[in-house]
Amino acid sequence: MGRLEGKVAFITGAGAGIAKASALALVTEGARVALVEINRELGRTAEKQVRKAGGDAIFLETDVTKDDAVKRAIGATVDRYGKLDVLVNCAGGSLQEDVPVHEMDLAVWKHTIALNLLHPFLCCRHGIPHMIKGSSGSIINFSSSLGMIGAGKPIYAAAKGGIVSFTRALAWEYAKNGIRANAIAPATVRTERSIKRWENKDWLLAEKPSPAAQARMAIQKNYPFSLGEPEDIASIVVFLASNESRMLTGAVIAADGGRSSYLKISD
Ligand SMILES: NC(=O)c1ccc[n+]([C@@H]2O[C@H](COP(=O)([O-])OP(=O)(O)OC[C@H]3O[C@@H](n4cnc5c(N)ncnc54)[C@H](O)[C@@H]3O)[C@@H](O)[C@H]2O)c1
Repeated sequence: MGRLEGKVAFITGAGAGIAKASALALVTEGARVALVEINRELGRTAEKQVRKAGGDAIFLETDVTKDDAVKRAIGATVDRYGKLDVLVNCAGGSLQEDVPVHEMDLAVWKHTIALNLLHPFLCCRHGIPHMIKGSSGSIINFSSSLGMIGAGKPIYAAAKGGIVSFTRALAWEYAKNGIRANAIAPATVRTERSIKRWENKDWLLAEKPSPAAQARMAIQKNYPFSLGEPEDIASIVVFLASNESRMLTGAVIAADGGRSSYLKISD
């Protein structure tokens, strides 16, 4: 019997990256899963893959930054599966245009805050009433190492730092209802998106690597555990979704190979 047998999970951004790997891991452990995704093609492909793996899944085409759309998606999940046990608020990400504040376009603020901070709020707003009905639940939010330490991308950092406080406030509020809330703060995970962004090997070959490339190489040298695969984060999602983590609430799991724990700039 799987570790999540009988549980129903709602997972956002499920067409790619960490969320897709997590959806596969959740169904492997017996959960039924709503795959919530804005991109129809990615969502349908993920649904096929999850079903092929033997999982019970439904794709819900949804823009998670829209209140009505999230309400409909939560409703469709509960209509289909009868309840809601696990909320994985995973959709998110930063923009390349997340530049120093005095040069920032306000549209970058609006987009980044809506996707990374408003969206988990909306999922909780509409999902928690169903968890209260069942007197249990596990909410899993996504922060980032950039939400824990200052290292650029100010708007993304503000949103992901906000997730830490939001998660603790959820833990405080809903413990009485049997609902736990935790966050995962990854550093760099080798999703399709981050591979495109970081693993253009040209910079490794360059005679004089750019400052950004040099910083990247230093990080990999000083924090050798800091580069992970989507499946590494999916394992943490399964743990937080399961009763094995029943003592954890309000916790932020820094899945960052030590980048927010120790400072090492040279040998
Ligand atoms: N990958 C990393 O290195 C890394 C590092 C730290 C934190 N994180 C966080 O982990 C989470 C997952 O990151 P990832 O790299 O797997 O993401 P990703 O870019 O690979 O996938 C994100 C998915 O969300 C979907 N999406 C985007 N906007 C949406 C919307 N409005 N409504 C519904 N779906 C939408 C995209 O279509 C995509 O399928 C994010 O919150 C991210 O900030 C990732």
